[in-house]
Amino acid sequence: MTSSSRGNWGSKFGFILAASGSAVGLGNIWRFPYAAGENGGALFVLIYLVSILLIGLPILIAETALGRFSGKNPVGAIKAIKPKGPWKLLGYLGVLTGIMILSYYAMIAGWTVGYFFKAVTGKLKNITSANAENLYNSFTGDTLLQIALLTFFLLITIYVVSRGVSNGIERFAKVLMPGLLIILVILLVRSLTLPGAEKGLEFYLKPDFTKLNIKVIISAMGQAFFSLSLGMGCMITYGSYLRKKEHLPSATAWVVLFDTSIAIMAGLIIFPALLSQGMDPAAGEGIMFNVLPVLFAKIPGGMIFGPLFFLLLCIAALTSTVSLLEVATSYGIDEKKWSRKKSALIMGAVTLLVGIPSVLSYSEVAFFKKLPLLGISFFALMDKMWSELSLSIGALFLAIFVGYVWKTSNALKEITWEGAQKFRFAAIWSISVMFLGPILIIAILGMFVYNLFF
Ligand code: TRP
Repeated sequence: MTSSSRGNWGSKFGFILAASGSAVGLGNIWRFPYAAGENGGALFVLIYLVSILLIGLPILIAETALGRFSGKNPVGAIKAIKPKGPWKLLGYLGVLTGIMILSYYAMIAGWTVGYFFKAVTGKLKNITSANAENLYNSFTGDTLLQIALLTFFLLITIYVVSRGVSNGIERFAKVLMPGLLIILVILLVRSLTLPGAEKGLEFYLKPDFTKLNIKVIISAMGQAFFSLSLGMGCMITYGSYLRKKEHLPSATAWVVLFDTSIAIMAGLIIFPALLSQGMDPAAGEGIMFNVLPVLFAKIPGGMIFGPLFFLLLCIAALTSTVSLLEVATSYGIDEKKWSRKKSALIMGAVTLLVGIPSVLSYSEVAFFKKLPLLGISFFALMDKMWSELSLSIGALFLAIFVGYVWKTSNALKEITWEGAQKFRFAAIWSISVMFLGPILIIAILGMFVYNLFF
């Protein structure tokens, strides 16, 4: 997928489109509100925004530059700069993390497919919050249906990745994303005008600093990485979409702006609606599915917007699952010499197997519902481990790799196209990648581990 094959699309635009397709997804609309809700609301949002600016954007630029420079999968990109030694483990971690995240991300995408069908067949008509919760519980508890939906979503992802048609998908997404945005605006207006909406706004926008603790910080930072598709090599792959003459930092900044705005907007929709219905913002990963149907039921034309919304969200999720599977697939192609089809199938099949215990987290099987000792579900453990911890570790070593092994001076040559382009923030960027980012991540991870054991 070189930039030249993108035809008459401006390639900077092509990159922004592809990278936004990967970044914007369930992470913005499903995960961000649920993680914010579990972590006290506004304070989480504040730390999330600070993480994006101070750590996320600089490392995203670093990751994209590494990709544009090498034009390879994460393992290959690292080998291109440092053929020997343990650094390639970082690439393997990325491949593994991609599969792990995909395993439960595709499950949630399957829920979205399920809700699309519910919306189309009128099952969400006139729904109240109590009904919505029952519906959610019986839906997620239907193990066979869930495995079928997970398999279905993975099959579509495998199909797209194996055909190498992500180009087509991204173009498709270009038409559909504005649609998603329009529905979000409609939802926003309705949610903000509900009686009692101000309680939600307060929860979402007024930070309560007494709630500050390391769990909130690490979750917010993890969410920042998750939402930007950062820390597992996704952007290494997408960096090759970007032609040398295009301004890398501004292209990256657009992606960040776009991604962050959509997440912030999702919160502005979910929390007012949630709290005006007296629902619990800390209720976990189901909140989006519990509150949006109720909101659609209160909107004129909701019976049209509802199905349309879930359909668009499925497509937004697909452009993200494609990017998650693409990393593992391109690894299989480059390093194992498998064909694209074989690689996508093998990696997809592994993902399906890993995903089944997450599905069982909602079944009658007590073990997966509540893991012994940990007291959380298998799904919750996976989400914390891979979305928060593993991406943070990946981002940390990526920053160190670019800062000290590849060296920021070399990276800056790539970023500025050998000096032909200006990068006003070059100095701040270097400081971020070499010092600020790594120090902050180490401090946060360190405190987290300390808290875990002491
Ligand atoms: N960022 C996507 C979202 O918000 C999910 C995603 C796609 C992702 N690729 C990734 C997360 C790579 C972490 C790493 O929905």
